[in-house]
Amino acid sequence: MEISLRNQLAVVTGASSGIGSGIAKSLANAGATVIINHSSERSVEEAQAVLKEITDAGGRGMTYQCDVSKEDQVIKMFQDTVSQFGTVDILINNAGIQKDAKFTEMTLDQWNAVIGVNLTGQFLCAREAIKEFLRRGIDPSRSIACGKIIHISSVHEIIPWAGHANYASSKGAIRMLMQTLAQEYGADKIRVNSICPGAIQTPINKDAWSTPEALNSLLNLIPYNRIGLPQDIGNLAAFLASDLADYITGTSIFVDGGMTTFESFSTGG
Ligand code: BGC
Repeated sequence: MEISLRNQLAVVTGASSGIGSGIAKSLANAGATVIINHSSERSVEEAQAVLKEITDAGGRGMTYQCDVSKEDQVIKMFQDTVSQFGTVDILINNAGIQKDAKFTEMTLDQWNAVIGVNLTGQFLCAREAIKEFLRRGIDPSRSIACGKIIHISSVHEIIPWAGHANYASSKGAIRMLMQTLAQEYGADKIRVNSICPGAIQTPINKDAWSTPEALNSLLNLIPYNRIGLPQDIGNLAAFLASDLADYITGTSIFVDGGMTTFESFSTGG
């Protein structure tokens, strides 16, 4: 059984580091040409390093700077991608940020920034991707589906998270966005799913794993007793984007080492 994304073009948002970079590498490894989206000047070098790793391994791709919370920039990213590569087959809606604060101290800027990238960004990219899928139609030389969207959500799609109301709200909403799109475009053969990562070792949660004490307390929440790696998410993303997953749509798949079994109940309740 080979996971093949040959002849397909994937846009991966937030791909200069963390989970996004892991997904970009996995998709390229399966044969896709990958747009490595990054948000700002500050992440140019990181994005180029991801591209270099991909091309050194024989893959193809391009870096593209665009803030996914900005409508004009998202529209332009899809236009430029289609004019350069012909179409888009796969969208990995991954870009995400945290701006943590105790709820009564959370500023409107912190709220808006997180909703803007994590939720509005996924809306804008999904809208442009679906328009392009429908314009192209099904092309069996690429895939038996008309297009695939994978939202990167979180275990906090279902686990409430004190001190992170903006983040948890954005992830809870992604579930309804994903399921609504799967319902609305199922007949057009567009598949829409979410991956819900648990604790994955990336810059976003460095405080939770960079000291032995922090890592120890994190592991108390993970029955499988290890932190996840970007590759763990990349493996599933490549499978879900491929025709092997053709009957999977409208669902959230948790990749969390068992975090959503609520480990704290193993000795209580
Ligand atoms: C968050 C991480 C956190 C993990 C598990 C993720 O969605 O971005 O900071 O470690 O969930 O709580």
